[in-house]
Amino acid sequence: LKASMKLDKDFRIAEVDERIYGSFIEHLGRAVYGGIYEPGHPAADEHGFRQDVRAMINEIGVPIVRYPGGNFVSGYNWEDGVGPISGRPTKLELAWRVLEPNLFGTNEFLAWTKQVKAQAMMAVNLGTRGIDDARNLVEYCNHPGGSYWSNLRIAHGYPEAYGIKTWCLGNEMDGPWQIGAKTSDEYGRLANETAKSMKFVDPTIELVVCGSSFRSMPTYAEWEATVLEHTYDNVDYLSLHTYYGNADNDTPNYLAKSLDMTAFIQEIIAVCDYIKAKKRSKKTMMLSFDEWNVWFHTLESDKKMEPWQFAPPQLEDVYTLEDALMVGTMLITLLKHADRVKIACLAQLVNVIAPIMTQTGGPAWRQTIFYPYMHASVYGRGTVLHAFIDTPKYDTKDYTDVPYLDTVAVHQEEKDELTIFAVNKSLDSSIVVSCDLRSFEGYRVVEHIVLENKDVKAVNRMNHSNRVSPHSDGDAAIDDDMLIGTLPRLSWNVIRLR
Ligand code: AHR
Repeated sequence: LKASMKLDKDFRIAEVDERIYGSFIEHLGRAVYGGIYEPGHPAADEHGFRQDVRAMINEIGVPIVRYPGGNFVSGYNWEDGVGPISGRPTKLELAWRVLEPNLFGTNEFLAWTKQVKAQAMMAVNLGTRGIDDARNLVEYCNHPGGSYWSNLRIAHGYPEAYGIKTWCLGNEMDGPWQIGAKTSDEYGRLANETAKSMKFVDPTIELVVCGSSFRSMPTYAEWEATVLEHTYDNVDYLSLHTYYGNADNDTPNYLAKSLDMTAFIQEIIAVCDYIKAKKRSKKTMMLSFDEWNVWFHTLESDKKMEPWQFAPPQLEDVYTLEDALMVGTMLITLLKHADRVKIACLAQLVNVIAPIMTQTGGPAWRQTIFYPYMHASVYGRGTVLHAFIDTPKYDTKDYTDVPYLDTVAVHQEEKDELTIFAVNKSLDSSIVVSCDLRSFEGYRVVEHIVLENKDVKAVNRMNHSNRVSPHSDGDAAIDDDMLIGTLPRLSWNVIRLR
């Protein structure tokens, strides 16, 4: 196959907000216990934070981490997780039907984010709780001192206010599975009043209001419109969530699902702008894609789990090469919408539908999806460019005109670097891409990284942790001011130029 593209440094979409490379740690399965936190593990420091896991998170350079849920937050009393550990209660955790001992809570999380050099994105419980607990938590975290909740933080041993900037107003409140699910009017009213009170405590914070849990929710779009009618003036971002999978083992159709994600983002922008028009508002609502990933491998097996265990393995999807390609196309889709998507969280970070896996008491390793996520975060900072792309296309069960070549380019002006991310979705053919680089005179290829494997279902496991890992033997090169490169069949590519 052959494809061509044109890039020009003046054709800008937007500056990438680094928070687009965020992730998520929920109190779920072994994300916290046995994941990031495991006192007594040989790699744990004096706080119990696993340093082998920290090192992998630092390789990615995760800029922001959402916490503590997810569905978990809708039944969480944050007060259970602060103060002396010996006094913390063990509770039934209803979202995931496990035991929560509260050994790790807000202060431990914030100490951990400092260690991994990430910002915190904190969610408040709008399922079983509301305005009061949310404003108290902002006071506990962000107020310097001299008030009841800020003094309590100081008494707990944390004299400095955390200054957490980004907060989520609940989680997936439209979902019948959610503890304390609400109608759009109920949620919109509550979210708006909670937003006001949280901002009364700290006017510098930014708030994310819940959109639909999935694009296929029955109340989709109407939910967003109603919620924004209530909250538009007091919130800063609307959330989107999506998970894709290949349950029917149809790879071309699976990899085409980035078109669904594209439509999802475009529709949500339309709804936001409709409310903006209705309100004659000067403010443009930005998007927080705060849960996105592949999730399907464990959906059935997890249903058989015995309830009320402590940190059982849950949602431990083992990712294949094709899942990594799917994650690559999702990253490309997010980048193409960098003008409106300002925050995105790969859900999640460790053990639970995650790029990093651990064995409790044992080693940590990188799943296949680690690589596109790491490459995008490391090399994808700068300005996203409009790429004019001419690619062959294919049709599938659910989609028509699916481009074989999915690609986006990011220009880092200060470093004089250009990075092209590209996925070849073809099962049987490589794509020879030629790229007209116009304004990038003198640029040369520094590296052409490729993630590929003969077996599209190849995975990394504890004892075979490098089966799917990238190499730098791609052939992209400059020939007469044209970039020419071969993208092997079913591959993720990072072409770095300087
Ligand atoms: O990320 C796993 C779960 O998926 C989250 O708890 C929930 O918000 C979503 O449905």
